[in-house]
Amino acid sequence: MKKWNVSAVRAAKGKQKLGCVTAYDAAFARLADEAGAPIILVGDSMGMNCLGYETTLPVKLEETLSAVAAVSRGAKDALVVGDMPFGSYQCGDDAAMANAVAIIKAGADAVKLEGGAKVCALIKRMTEAGIPVLAHVGMTPQSVNSYGGFKKQGKTREDAEKVLADAKAVEAAGAFAVTLECIPAELAAEITAAVRIPTIGIGAGPVCDAQWLVMHDLLGLNEKVPSFVKKYADLASVVRNAFAAYVGEVADGKFPA
Ligand code: KIV
Repeated sequence: MKKWNVSAVRAAKGKQKLGCVTAYDAAFARLADEAGAPIILVGDSMGMNCLGYETTLPVKLEETLSAVAAVSRGAKDALVVGDMPFGSYQCGDDAAMANAVAIIKAGADAVKLEGGAKVCALIKRMTEAGIPVLAHVGMTPQSVNSYGGFKKQGKTREDAEKVLADAKAVEAAGAFAVTLECIPAELAAEITAAVRIPTIGIGAGPVCDAQWLVMHDLLGLNEKVPSFVKKYADLASVVRNAFAAYVGEVADGKFPA
């Protein structure tokens, strides 16, 4: 199978639509990789999906590092991207550089961070230091407290212009791709046409160059999912039934035979 790197991701724009996923451990990273996922993101959505938090904000750098190491051991061909957790790049650019280096040393091929024009100096510095950056604009979940909830962005023309300007700014700063989260589909289409780097949408309509789905949502491990999600499996039932069968068989003396 093809080994994905940032050049291959950039070259796919306009030629191949990429179905990209999150994973947080080696077992699921191996399965996503074997299925041909081109990019596996060790998302800070790990906070909600694995660690039981309400938001991404409490995720610690140490938790990210250990998940990145596990995912990079499980994935062979996918590009592994480590999401910089809240606080790891808002703490001054020198500390942000050290934290990005730690994520790469843990096994990631690239880092992702949230924000547009405000983080461009950092994106430029990372890119020049050999750390590929995947940008993230539109609804940036680490700003949940500033938004007052997880709210769709870019709904008015003025806000849309800001998201478009952010996407152009991160491209100019050297990002190899840009995540567009929870923005109107028409705006995502406009941005996709306006930048030369791939756009990876999540809740941003069908016209993006690539899509993200969070692993727990697409596999049906989360019973409640955002409206744009398609569940490709119902693993919650499969797993619950398997646990119940095992617990029942032990209780009945059927296992071990
Ligand atoms: O953490 C995450 O899951 C993300 C999504 C955009 C895929 O950042």
